[in-house]
Amino acid sequence: MGLLRHFDLSRFEKADCLMETGTENGFGIEHAMKYDNLKELHSVEINEKFYNFCKQKFNFVDRVNLWLGSSETKLVEMLSAISERKSCLYWLDAHLPSDPGSRFEHGREADQIEFPLEKELRLIKDNRDTKFDYFIIDDLRIYEDGPFQHTGKSWIHHHLYPNFFPHKDGIKFIEDMFSATHNILRDYNHEGYLILEPKQ
Ligand SMILES: C[S@@+](CC[C@H](N)C(=O)[O-])C[C@H]1O[C@@H](n2cnc3c(N)ncnc32)[C@H](O)[C@@H]1O
Repeated sequence: MGLLRHFDLSRFEKADCLMETGTENGFGIEHAMKYDNLKELHSVEINEKFYNFCKQKFNFVDRVNLWLGSSETKLVEMLSAISERKSCLYWLDAHLPSDPGSRFEHGREADQIEFPLEKELRLIKDNRDTKFDYFIIDDLRIYEDGPFQHTGKSWIHHHLYPNFFPHKDGIKFIEDMFSATHNILRDYNHEGYLILEPKQ
């Protein structure tokens, strides 16, 4: 599992808002709240239990906006809420904390729900000018090999389950969407992150 607090977000000081997919216990939001440049923080969570927990936790924090639902169904509305913001930092972290063997325990059957990243990026690209936006994407090891710090407990490596993981071409779908406008950097700490920084 990746941690937003692994990152010193002052590196993204030009960003004026945060958009997170997968709120869970709100640890990502708590870290982002340390940075005053992030004037609004938005986070979407599919699991009502986590959503309700964080609603209470952040009840008195005006700049925190929580959304209940799947990222796929909520992102367009969330993006319209930040349409005036020049630069957004996305923390794309929505995935089930499950391995292929236990996937049905969560009542989730469709791969596209378990791996929402491609849909999320497409929605963001289609609904916003992203040239000044930053992205931190968790769990690079879902998509490709590398010298990851944690080879993984919760996600079994994709070679063992070749038909379970989508994106046989690794991160090509991300390069196709962003390589013209962003530098794409790999961070092999934890289970791997991909960082997209604007070229200009
Ligand atoms: C790794 S946790 C998020 C941790 C959190 N971002 C942090 O930094 O502490 C992943 C969360 O994503 C949620 N999730 C999974 N699929 C989702 C989807 N399609 N849309 C929104 N949330 C989703 C899960 O319920 C889980 O709470």
